[in-house]
This record gives sequence, structure tokens and C-alpha cells, in this order.
Amino acid sequence: MAKRVLSGIQPSGTLTLGNYLGAMKHFVALQDEADCVFCVVDLHAITVPQDPAELRQNTLNLAALYLAAGIDPTRSTLFVQSHVPAHAELGWILQCVVHYGELGRMTQFKDKASQRDVVTAGLFTYPALMAADILLYQADLVPVGEDQKQHLELTRDIAERFNQRYGETFVIPEVYIPEVGGRIMSLEDPTKKMSKSDASQGAFISMLDNPDVIRKKISRAVTDSGREVRFDKENKAAISNLLTIYSLCAGVPIAELEARYEGQGYGPFKKDLAEAVVAALEPIQVRYRELVGSSELRNILREGAEKAAAKAEVTLQKVKERLGFLR
Ligand code: AMP
Ligand code: TRP
Repeated sequence: MAKRVLSGIQPSGTLTLGNYLGAMKHFVALQDEADCVFCVVDLHAITVPQDPAELRQNTLNLAALYLAAGIDPTRSTLFVQSHVPAHAELGWILQCVVHYGELGRMTQFKDKASQRDVVTAGLFTYPALMAADILLYQADLVPVGEDQKQHLELTRDIAERFNQRYGETFVIPEVYIPEVGGRIMSLEDPTKKMSKSDASQGAFISMLDNPDVIRKKISRAVTDSGREVRFDKENKAAISNLLTIYSLCAGVPIAELEARYEGQGYGPFKKDLAEAVVAALEPIQVRYRELVGSSELRNILREGAEKAAAKAEVTLQKVKERLGFLR
């Protein structure tokens, strides 16, 4: 039987090139070999304050981007998390399986909590909801960027604990982190990950930035001392990040790029890099604009939710039975 793949992205702002190269691009490729389920995780987005009108628009935008990037709704299931109530239900149940201490050790929680005055309980328990997303579909494989690795390990612990206590119920999922691109870094500070919530616009490339904005951001991207285009994460963090982006956008191995720009300095390298990024994103942007306001998109999401709910219900019924809930 084909492997089951599940992943999710939060509708909390425009996706960056990091989201694309670290996650979405791999989702598209996995469709050829696996039975894929992809989710717009709006229940996760509300762990921090969201403007309702913006959340609605961001949800549609993200769904359109998934499709524009190449998610094929005839092969994969694409849906919005809040359309399938089983996520919230299993999420609660798994909050009663995960331990307080385990949640307190999540580095993403510690990071995010330290940046705000008010921290919701949902931000703290969020990994239980993420575990529910994955376990509901009995996923074998979960493609994510490196920042999600710890959440995946916790998901496995939760599943194993449940299976041990109540009998075999969940498939134990494996994490799938791309070898190249699992962590795309900021264009302004190569020690920080590229993030859509960065206060500085120049730090990230949005998947919807127009070509001139992309060219400008890349021409201003920080580089390292020296003038050699060489992959060396320790001593040339900025150039290594740009090489990674170039390699993934153009489909050219890093070693080949190093050879191509030998002795040329950073100028020509950055210029061509900008064109490679533009070429990768432009067709996605064109398709995105066709889809985002369309009834086609709404229909795909409605059908996606129906398909997802049918799969999720099978697992949820089993879980309720095991727990001793009255039928
Ligand atoms: P998020 O935007 O936090 O919902 O993340 C969606 C997906 O993109 C997750 O799989 C993340 O791990 C991945 N991702 C986010 N930022 C980056 C980055 N800078 N490099 C690689 N992957 C990323
Ligand atoms: N927590 C992930 C993030 O912030 C998003 C997410 C929610 C997810 N549910 C998931 C990723 C299930 C993979 C599988 O990026």
C-alpha cells in the first residue's frame, strides 16, 4: 500500500521562500509516491491573536498557493483544518495524554512565549493538536522544516503512549526533513531562520513578492567577507544560504554553482540567483492569481473537507471506543 503523508501550514501571513523550499516543494514531489493529505491549519493560527478578516483571506491565499505550487486535488486531499471537527476532538483527547512537562520543553513554545506579554493556553497545548492532525490520518511520513522536528518527536511519544495504554491504535509517524533546504535562513541575518513574522521585510522573500522586489531584496542580502562563492556553513553562512536557495530554485547542484562562479565574486552570482528565484516563483504567482478568488477553489476545499472527514472519522471512532466513551 502507498505510504500516507500528512503536513500542515499555518495561514498566518504570506508564505516565504523558506516555507516553499523547506516544505511545499517537497509536498508537491511526494504526491508521486504517496497518498497525501495537506491541511491549512487555521486552528493553529488562532493560538496567537488574528484579525478575523485577515485570517479568512490568509486561509484562502494559502489554499490557493498550495494548488498553484502544484498540489493536485485529484490525487491529494487539500482541506481547511476547522472544516473537520475531528481535529479539535482528538486534539483535546491528546491534551489528556501528553504531559505538562513535555509541553514545557518545546523550544518553539519557549521562543514564542518569550516574545509576548500574553500567552494563551492554546499556544502551550498546540503540539497536542498537531499530533491529532497527524495521527487522525495514520500518517507514515510527515514532511516539515527542521523547526518542527521536536514537535514530531513528541507526536511519536504521544502515539506510543496511547498505543501502550489502550492497545494498537495509531501508526507511529516518521519525520521527513529535506537534506537541503530544511532551514532557509534570513537574508539579513544568516543565523536566524527566514520567517514570515520577521519585523524586517528585507529578511524574507514572500512567495508573492513581485520580480523587482525579489531582485532588490537579493541585491541587498548580506554576504560574508571575502569574495569567493563557496559552500561553508561555518565560515560563510550567508553565501551558503544563498547557494542553497539558488540550487533548489534552479535545480542545479551546489558544487556546480561553486564551479560556475569561481573567481567571479558575489555580483554576478547574486544577479543570476535573483533570476532563478523569479523563474521559480513567477509561474506559481500567475496560477495563484487565477485561483484565489475562484469558485473552483471553494469547491476543491469543500470536497477536500469531505474526503478528510471520512478518513479522520475512522480513527476518531476507534479512539473513542478504546477510551471507553459510551456509544
Ligand atoms: P509555518 O509557516 O510555521 O506554518 O511553517 C510551515 C512549514 O514550513 C513547516 O514545515 C516549517 O517547518 C517550514 N518552514 C518554515 N520556515 C522555514 C525555513 N526558514 N526554512 C525551511 N522550512 C521552513
Ligand atoms: N506546527 C506546524 C508549523 O507551525 C504546522 C502544523 C500543524 C503541522 N499541524 C501539522 C505540520 C501537522 C505538519 C503536520 O509549521
